Amino acid sequence: MKFFIDTANLDEIKQAADMGVLDGVTTNPSLAAKESAPYKDLLKDICKIVPGPVSAEVLATDTKGMLTEAEDLVKIADNIVVKIPTTLEGLRAIKALTDKSIKTNATLVFSPMQALLVAKAGATYVSPFVGRLDDISYDGMELIEDIVGIYNNYTFETEVLVASIRNPVHVLEAARLGADVCTVPLKVFGQLIKHPLTDIGLDKFLSDYKKAGKN
Ligand code: G3P
Repeated sequence: MKFFIDTANLDEIKQAADMGVLDGVTTNPSLAAKESAPYKDLLKDICKIVPGPVSAEVLATDTKGMLTEAEDLVKIADNIVVKIPTTLEGLRAIKALTDKSIKTNATLVFSPMQALLVAKAGATYVSPFVGRLDDISYDGMELIEDIVGIYNNYTFETEVLVASIRNPVHVLEAARLGADVCTVPLKVFGQLIKHPLTDIGLDKFLSDYKKAGKN
């Protein structure tokens, strides 16, 4: 499974890259709005830090505007993936960009049928938002199970990118289901490696050694 970080913050991206297991980055307008630098400048810097796929989202809501923005975004760096909202207008844009061999990430996916359509249109990634479904009392991970199952029935190349991850259990379940990618906030990255028994065990190893006078 690939790990992406879900942020537009350069320090967080550097910290995640330092962990040695970072495959890519996802951003969105809300994340970009938290940073002081203009979105395109941020994307340029992110692409220098991370050689893997960096999702950059369009702001237009009509197909023509999305395509114009996409052409502009892909000029930033070779590893830019254009993030397109999963609307009817977005579906048309994904198809048009696929025909031009431009990589896309279909975002704001909340149903298996949205996922099926964007795969048919050739999206490189589909981004189901699990946390936001949990927030409204639906089981977000059930959506992942549905999408993985449906994609496995056919020969789509679209990768399932689990988004809106809020905790380590989302990542665990995504891995059990065979999702291709998880995009996680830095906090969750830190939680994934932590285990209290590891810390307790390490303290005991070191104190036993010291007690035995081995220095
Ligand atoms: O990747 C999508 C993500 O940024 C949304 O996360 O926590 O705002 O639902 P959240």
